[in-house]
Amino acid sequence: MSQVRHILSASQFNRAFLDRMYRLTNKIRQFDKSKEGLHYLQSLLPHKRAMLYFTQPSTRTFLSFQSACHILGMKNSEIRDAATSSERKGESIEDSLRTFSSYVDLIIMRSPVRGLCDKMAQLLDQTDRPIPIINAGSGPDEHPTQALLDVYTLERSFKDSGGIDGKTICMVGDLKRGRTVRSLSRLLTLYKNVRLVFASPSEFKIENDLRLFLKSAGVEFLETADFRDSLALSDAIYMTRIQDEYDLAAGESGKVDSSEFYLRAEHLKIMKSSAVIMHPLPRRNELDPAIDNDPRAKYWRQERNGMWTRVALMTTLLGVDEKILLPEL
Ligand code: NCD
Repeated sequence: MSQVRHILSASQFNRAFLDRMYRLTNKIRQFDKSKEGLHYLQSLLPHKRAMLYFTQPSTRTFLSFQSACHILGMKNSEIRDAATSSERKGESIEDSLRTFSSYVDLIIMRSPVRGLCDKMAQLLDQTDRPIPIINAGSGPDEHPTQALLDVYTLERSFKDSGGIDGKTICMVGDLKRGRTVRSLSRLLTLYKNVRLVFASPSEFKIENDLRLFLKSAGVEFLETADFRDSLALSDAIYMTRIQDEYDLAAGESGKVDSSEFYLRAEHLKIMKSSAVIMHPLPRRNELDPAIDNDPRAKYWRQERNGMWTRVALMTTLLGVDEKILLPEL
């Protein structure tokens, strides 16, 4: 799988690829512990340039990709608003992307449009500069690199209790339009005997395509509105925000009472003492900051893991991953 060209969907990964990413990420974190190690990482890709094309809001994904570029010695350029590029003058997205490919070696893109990354990857593949594209969030559809960092965080959290295999993982909130949930659920089908619990108001249940995907993968899953019960039986709780930016009518999400699905400090006592609490962030009211100091809260670690897993992914895409796995420290 080190032949991988673009990162478009979580469903393109297999278990061997995930295990390799896990090993690579751990090794990268060891390099981070010394000045020599950091200099070594910076010497891997100083001849490469990346373009961050983010036309949807982002804090963590943008900064962690940008920091990952810096860790590897790569330069990066950015567009964060299509209104500041020639798209404003009427240039098509196809022509804009092709233009970026003239200047850089990798495009990392986030867009509100479902399927746009796939379309752009196909287009670039037909040109004489078929550079890789990484999907950093494609509308309400997919967020494959978030799923990689989520799986890495779960692996680390369960490293002394047999790993992810056999665990019950509960996802909570807007499961209909939350792309992190959609990508993570797909990745979790690669582990053995994982049980998924989807806890949400009925308006925000998972979409049928995901339901069918899980059924065909033979994964046991439960859709429920019983948040308290779900908390008590789960090894990991993955909280998410209501994705009201995708409302078809203004204020639509506000009409749904989601407060039953907020994780509050009082819930901590009904959760397993070994449970893991995660959130892709940003959070609103669904995750009480009073929980931040509980040892089970892993979301700040999860956000930092995003940077390391993205370093690992870029070394794989740009062919220097062996230079991380091989040398002894
Ligand atoms: C998520 C996203 O953009 O999908 N954020 C992130 O990338 N960490 C989740 C969200 O915005 O709710």
